Amino acid sequence: MLSDVKALSIIIPTYNERENIGQLIEKIIESLTGIDFEVIVVDDNSPDGTGEFVEQLSHKLNNVKVIHRPGKLGLSSAILDGASVAQGYAVGVIDADLQHPPQLLKEMFSKIGEGYDVVVASRYVEGGGIEGWSFTRKIVSKTASFLAHLLLKRCRPVSDPLSGYFMFRKDVIDGVKFEAKGYKILLEILEKGNYDKVIEVPYTFRSRRAGKSKMRFNEILNYVKLLMKLSEYRVLKFVTVGLSGVLVNLGSLWILVTFFSFPKLYSAIFAIEFSIINNFILNDFWTFKDRRSGNFFYRLIKFHGSALGPLINYIVYVLLLLFGVNYLIADAIGILCGFVANYLFSEFIVWR
Ligand code: GDD
Ligand code: MN
Repeated sequence: MLSDVKALSIIIPTYNERENIGQLIEKIIESLTGIDFEVIVVDDNSPDGTGEFVEQLSHKLNNVKVIHRPGKLGLSSAILDGASVAQGYAVGVIDADLQHPPQLLKEMFSKIGEGYDVVVASRYVEGGGIEGWSFTRKIVSKTASFLAHLLLKRCRPVSDPLSGYFMFRKDVIDGVKFEAKGYKILLEILEKGNYDKVIEVPYTFRSRRAGKSKMRFNEILNYVKLLMKLSEYRVLKFVTVGLSGVLVNLGSLWILVTFFSFPKLYSAIFAIEFSIINNFILNDFWTFKDRRSGNFFYRLIKFHGSALGPLINYIVYVLLLLFGVNYLIADAIGILCGFVANYLFSEFIVWR
């Protein structure tokens, strides 16, 4: 039935979407007239009978197919399971609950025709938006995007790398090894996929038509784990190096004073310089080993800008004191700000 090659495969992951899926498929068919496409619903044994419903539908519509999985195995892996049987030259992913307007599929597909490898339907480009989200969910979403942009270089050109609505040429994921944990498979495709040209098209994320979101708190944890993994734990390495610098600083101060009888006032300057060199070398050969372009000594000199960290730490501390914040809390917040500044400095200036 589906043995022939198609132009486009639309993958719809479902968990309890019986009330939505029929209407969505209808709209997809309406908006893709003239295109040779198939619909692949990947259902995780939904208790509400979504799977059987689509099964029935697939007997009537020969370009609709359903994959039944034994239980709720997660959104990302559902999409990949769908992609693995897709016959399309391109693969599109859309949520079942009509929060993603299917009318946009045709335009997205035409971008593939124009030579784009990945097309992201985006809430955050001009003309896009979000309907009916609480302030909290907006903040969570914005923070999540900020972290993706901070930690993952290849995601930076995309303003909405956490979108659940996207399309790609199928060979973009050929041979890619995925974690496929949680919700954010696009992030992984952007970070690991074989592509050069990516474009965003604006859309408005509407309120759910029926049923409930399956997003749970534990998806936030999944997301943080995924970010850590995809960034190869760069932030954790950076912290570790920073701590080693503290030891080098204290250790060399002690050695200079005790064994070389250096004046304490000057020894500290050397101790600071040793810790900067220590941190630089470890970061250069470990934390940012994939980013070592240009001259080693030039990077080392630039890295001295990390002195910015303690300065920011101190400024924040003083400001918070002026606002009457407890001095220890003020310093803790200062340390955090100094750390973030240093990370940004390394990421975007020393090893960009
Ligand atoms: N097969 C399967 N298995 N499907 C799932 C699972 C699962 O474990 N979890 C969720 N789904 C399906 C839902 O049935 C729905 O069709 C789609 O995946 C999205 O799930 P929602 O629960 O509606 O997610 P959301 O609306 O909170 O978030 C969506 O929109 C965001 C903004 O674009 C997701 O697409 C997010 O990834 C996206 O960031
Ligand atoms: Mn939804």
